[in-house]
Amino acid sequence: MTPPEGALAAQSPRSIDAILDWTPDTLPAVATLLGLRRYWMGPVFQALRRDYDAAVGDGPGPATQAEAEPIVQALPSARYFQWLHRHIQDRTWALCRRIARDRAEELAAALSTRPDDLGTLTVDGADLPVEIPAYYTFDYHRQDGGIWRGLEGAAVYLLGARIVHAGRNTDFQLHDQVVGDIPVEAPPRRILDLGCGFGKTTFSLKARWPDAQVTGVDLADPCLRLGRRMASERGLAIDWRQGDMERLTDADGSADLVVITMVLHEMPESAIRAALRECTRVLKPGGRLAMLENRLIGDPFRDTLLKWYSQLIDEPYWEPYRHMDLLGACTEAGLVEAETRSWYLANTGGPEAEADPRRWCTPWGLTLAKKPA
Ligand SMILES: C[S@@+](CC[C@H](N)C(=O)[O-])C[C@H]1O[C@@H](n2cnc3c(N)ncnc32)[C@H](O)[C@@H]1O
Repeated sequence: MTPPEGALAAQSPRSIDAILDWTPDTLPAVATLLGLRRYWMGPVFQALRRDYDAAVGDGPGPATQAEAEPIVQALPSARYFQWLHRHIQDRTWALCRRIARDRAEELAAALSTRPDDLGTLTVDGADLPVEIPAYYTFDYHRQDGGIWRGLEGAAVYLLGARIVHAGRNTDFQLHDQVVGDIPVEAPPRRILDLGCGFGKTTFSLKARWPDAQVTGVDLADPCLRLGRRMASERGLAIDWRQGDMERLTDADGSADLVVITMVLHEMPESAIRAALRECTRVLKPGGRLAMLENRLIGDPFRDTLLKWYSQLIDEPYWEPYRHMDLLGACTEAGLVEAETRSWYLANTGGPEAEADPRRWCTPWGLTLAKKPA
C-alpha cells in the first residue's frame, strides 16, 4: 500500500498494515477459516432452514421467537450449525494469536512513539484516571484475554475481525459505508467515536470530514495505540483517548456528532442508558447521535439463530440488547427524533438477503437521534 501524502514514511519500521498482513505461510489457514465460515453461512444454514421448514410443515408456523426456539433447537442439523460456529470462532482466535505472537516483537518496536505521529494519545494516568467497569473485563467473542490487557490482544482482535466479517471488511468497507450514510445538515466540527477500538469508524469519520476534530474514545488503551499509528500511516490526524463512555470527560455541548458502532451489544442495559445520557450531555443543541448495531429481523427462525449467535460466542449482553427499547432509552436520555433504519452492507445484498433461505446474513440497524435544538 502506498501511504497517502502526509502519512508517516513507511520504510522502517514497517507499517502496521504490513506487519499484520497475511503471509504465504498463514494464508492457507486463513483461507480455510474463511471457507469454513462461508460453508457455515451457506450450505449448513440451508440444511437447517430445510429441516425447520419440514418440521413446521404447511401451517402458519411459530409466530414468535419464543415459539420457534424449541423447534429449531430439536433439529439434528442445529447441533452441527452451533458446533461449527463455535469451532470456527475458537480456531480463528487460535490462528490469530499464533500470528500476533510471531510478530509481537516487530509490532512492539513499530509502536514505540515517533515524533511524526499525528494527533494526540491520552491514556490512564494522574491527569485522566480511568476506571474499568466490571462488565468490561469479560472475554467477549470468546477471545481469551480480551483486547484491553495488552498489545497481543489488540492485534489478535484486528486480525480476527477480518475473518469474522468473512473477508468482506478487510479494508473497512463496512465502516466507510456506514459513516457515509450518516445524515448531517452541515459538516460537523467536533466528532466523538465512542468505543472506537483501533479506529475503523474513526478513520472513516476523519476521511469524510477532514477538517473536523475527531476523537476516538475506548477503554482499551492497546487498541488506541494501534489506532493512532494506523491513522498516522494513513495521514489522518485523530485524537485518541482512553475512557468510559458512561463517564465522558468532554464538556457539555461540545460535540456536533457522536458515533457508536458495534459497541452497545457488549454493554448491560444500565450502562447503555448511562452512555446515552452522556451523549445527550456532550452533544451541542441540534447535534446528532448515530449508532450501528445488529437488530432483530422479525422472522422467528432467524431471530432464534441470532440469539444462538451471541450465546455461542459468549456475548452475554447481545440478546438482551436486541430486545431492549433503544428508541425509548434515547428519548428517556433527552434525545429526539430517534429512529432505527435497516442498514445493508453494499456487498451482501438488501432486504431480500435477509429472506434468502440459502444464506445466513447479519441484520444491521442504524439508529439515529438528535439533541433538541
Ligand atoms: C466490537 S468493538 C467495536 C469497535 C469499533 N467501534 C468498530 O466498529 O469496529 C467494541 C469496542 O467497544 C469498547 N467498549 C466497550 N465498552 C466500552 C465503554 N463503556 N466505554 C468505551 N469503550 C467501550 C471495547 O473496548 C471495544 O473496543
